[in-house]
Amino acid sequence: MQFHFNREKILIIDFGSQVTKLIARRIREFGVYSEIITPEKLQNLKDFNKIKGIILSGGPSTVTKYKFQTVPKKLFSKKIPILGICYGFQLIAKLHGGKIKATKKRREFGRAAISEKRKSPLTKNFFQSKKNVWMSHEDAVIKLPKNFKIVASTKDSRLTIIENRKKNIYGVQFHPEVTHTDNGNQIFKNFIFSICKIKKNWNVSSQKNKIIQDIKNTVKKDRVICALSGGVDSSVVALLINKAIKKKLICIMVDTGLMRKNEFKHTFKIFKNKYKLNIRLINASKFFLKKLKNIENPEKKRKIIGGLFVNIFEKESKKIKNVKFLAQGTLYPDIIESRSSTGSKTSKIKSHHNVGGLPKKMNLKLLEPLKEFFKDEVRVLGKSLGLTKKILNRHPFPGPGLGIRIIGNIEKEKIKILQEVDHIYINELIKFNLYGKIWQAYAALLPIKTVGVMGDSRTYEYTCLLRAVTSEDGMTADYFSFPKDFLDKISNKIVNNVKGVNRVVYDITSKPPSTIELE
Ligand code: XMP
Repeated sequence: MQFHFNREKILIIDFGSQVTKLIARRIREFGVYSEIITPEKLQNLKDFNKIKGIILSGGPSTVTKYKFQTVPKKLFSKKIPILGICYGFQLIAKLHGGKIKATKKRREFGRAAISEKRKSPLTKNFFQSKKNVWMSHEDAVIKLPKNFKIVASTKDSRLTIIENRKKNIYGVQFHPEVTHTDNGNQIFKNFIFSICKIKKNWNVSSQKNKIIQDIKNTVKKDRVICALSGGVDSSVVALLINKAIKKKLICIMVDTGLMRKNEFKHTFKIFKNKYKLNIRLINASKFFLKKLKNIENPEKKRKIIGGLFVNIFEKESKKIKNVKFLAQGTLYPDIIESRSSTGSKTSKIKSHHNVGGLPKKMNLKLLEPLKEFFKDEVRVLGKSLGLTKKILNRHPFPGPGLGIRIIGNIEKEKIKILQEVDHIYINELIKFNLYGKIWQAYAALLPIKTVGVMGDSRTYEYTCLLRAVTSEDGMTADYFSFPKDFLDKISNKIVNNVKGVNRVVYDITSKPPSTIELE
């Protein structure tokens, strides 16, 4: 097994928690390089030289069954500090002779008040005035493993933080990586700097030249086509490749007809005129609409849209000589997510077409220069490449676009209605100075018509749904609390200006239990 970067690192073993990626992100935010691998990959790992610390993540499995996901016991005798989180903590306890019980009575979900029982290098400066930690577990460690001590407890879990200081093994039952844990970052700071003693070695901007050089070495004399959507990821990919190979990069912009209002034209103009990229425009909106006719199933829609994209690229590439590579804005979280769906035990929620929809046999090789990076790191790269603020700060937009925001059947008329609603919504967010405070906002069209009254007439029109969430990397999310005057204004403006809509609803669910997109 090979690592992405040959440098000192904190290694994270992923047992399938939905928030494992946040652990890596937190550590990188401290300027320390971290990588995530599956327990299966760990089995083949021979060289532990560069690994300065190991974190065992949470996950949906249980150590109370006869067979459970584990790590080789010899991992604990390598003198590398180890921190277990949730499932990782229970695994440490199990492998060291502790007792774990699956009991509904002890399950803890949500915030829990934590109290300190003894001083530990892991918890230095952690217990401040606010002392809530985020719990999400059914199993509980009920007997302390041999040679371990209790560092902290909650009302329902006596064993919430444990340590074996001599061996540098630590376990926490809660999730320090989520923002709901007060001061959770301090746990990572203590672990990586005081316990693992790793030095700062990660700075995204300094990777720019290495990425550009890597692209040059990979592509050599061939040509690359790049799917340019105007989102942050594909824009940064295009600018990086352009820096590396100039005119040998051909960007392809596919008008699926499923983009936001005016976004296609705006993106084309900027990349053609400001960044002088070599762009081919493909108008495929009729084609997409035809293939999506009467398709209601969300997963089918995603597969069809992903498949059409790839077909178009392959077809276009054949028209251009010497194209060997298809560039994509795949990010590190996408890689972990799609790997999880085949390898580890994370349950698959949706197929993200960036990775999932590609056919097994493809004539083009993939070029994915951002696959080691998180979204906020990509924004840093984008800034250093001179990407405009408007694109840099754009909310994420899913590959299948409005296709998964028109619930049920997709029709031309519905696309037009949704584009208008979305346009008003986003512009008002900007006007009210709310856009930057929200991680992602969009409008969706629901497949129901309801009765309304306008003037003296009865109406029977569509309902649109507005969504706005705060989040980190989209893995968990809270709905955004709008001031009432914004809600009043927006509902009025939409109903008064968009023909075909007579009702506006606001989505007040968080993720989980919902997802950010509706399909
Ligand atoms: P969910 O709906 O899974 O969305 O909570 C999480 C984040 O992922 C985005 N998303 C996608 N991005 N291709 C993408 O590039 C896709 O197929 C896709 N589906 C969802 C979504 O907009 C949110 O930011």
